[in-house]
Amino acid sequence: MTTRDPNASATLPWDGLACGATLATLADDAGYGLIEDGVLGWRDGLLTFAGPRAELPGRSDNIAHQVIELNGGCITPALVDCHTHAVFAGDRAGEFEQRLQGADYEQIARAGGGILSTVRHTRAASEEELLAQSLPRARALRDDGVTTLEIKSGYGLDFDNERKMLRVAKRIGNELGIEVRTTFLGAHALPQEFSGNADGYIDAVVEWLPRLHGEGLVDAVDAFCERIGFTLAQTRRVFEAARALGLPVKLHADQLSDGDGAALVAEFGGLSADHVEYTSQAGVAAMARAGTVAVLLPGAFHVLRETTLPPLDEFRVQQVPMAVATDCNPGTSPLLSLRQAMQLACTHFRLTPEEALRGATVNGARALGLDDRGALRVGMRADFVHWRVRQPAELCYWLGGSLAAAVYAGGRRVSGFV
Ligand code: NIG
Ligand code: FE
Repeated sequence: MTTRDPNASATLPWDGLACGATLATLADDAGYGLIEDGVLGWRDGLLTFAGPRAELPGRSDNIAHQVIELNGGCITPALVDCHTHAVFAGDRAGEFEQRLQGADYEQIARAGGGILSTVRHTRAASEEELLAQSLPRARALRDDGVTTLEIKSGYGLDFDNERKMLRVAKRIGNELGIEVRTTFLGAHALPQEFSGNADGYIDAVVEWLPRLHGEGLVDAVDAFCERIGFTLAQTRRVFEAARALGLPVKLHADQLSDGDGAALVAEFGGLSADHVEYTSQAGVAAMARAGTVAVLLPGAFHVLRETTLPPLDEFRVQQVPMAVATDCNPGTSPLLSLRQAMQLACTHFRLTPEEALRGATVNGARALGLDDRGALRVGMRADFVHWRVRQPAELCYWLGGSLAAAVYAGGRRVSGFV
């Protein structure tokens, strides 16, 4: 389907026009929306045309200031990574080795390792050091197609260090020319200084939130609702604080056990329930009613060698949109490619490559409350990737490698050389 700006001639000339690749527009509810020998046009950062060359309203060099002839390949909407913890200091390769020798993630966490070990490193790093360590990870994600990147706090666990993380996240967006959406995850783990006083810690989290929001550092609020995280009642208090500020919520829900997290986040009209391996049928039904997206994180599933699959068929039957994200973090998912997460979603969760691509584009955007990206349709942001592939299924087929020839955000090339 061609989408054309009704006022196309009024808005001529366009800033740019890319032609000669196969477009996968995802413009409709099903199918890739393939257009052979396709053209994208854009102006002021928004798409003005997405259709076949034959339907261009004139000669390409009369229409746009810059004409890019691509000579093959595929163009998709740029990728949206809607769940990451990409800002942190240090690494946890040692825990990886321990787990391979039989230790498990929950045991390590209860012994003061896991998230708290990254908290120690992150607190010790200056803002500049934290930026220097985190930037290469975000750059790797961008260079593999991501132009909208969600980044959570949650390794600071005190006001100053949570603030430092969120500031670094925003700076990453400016440095890389992509959009970073920040999520406050103060309720990620109980810091040592609040040991035995989780409710007191939640009091502090609820007090920090409006101050951080007042500095423009919070786009959404998350919590880790789990045996080794926070209870439903504590999570509810965090969500009530978010609601009082008009902030959307999302949740690490039912990752290691069924804790009714999905139903809770749905009750708050949440953007997404994430992980959801153990979500019950009632949880899925609540998500369907609320329009809450299921964010699948196959990287964590893979690294933790999990075996319980999310209720994928139930999501399909109840039409809960499924997103796919990297969960990039030092413990459970040291994953630096969203395309690789799509590959894992196909192999472990049996998503179709089309579902995986939708999950990393239009449904990922929806999980962030964004409806201006994730498909190639006139009026949407000119965020797209030119891939060195013949067909979009290849994006989920190759393991590793570098397939993105060029990555565009708002009509500006932010990565790659054509
Ligand atoms: O999404 N589950 C909690 N949070 C992360 C893990 C963070 C960590 O281990 O550092 C996750 O898997
Ligand atoms: Fe996570």
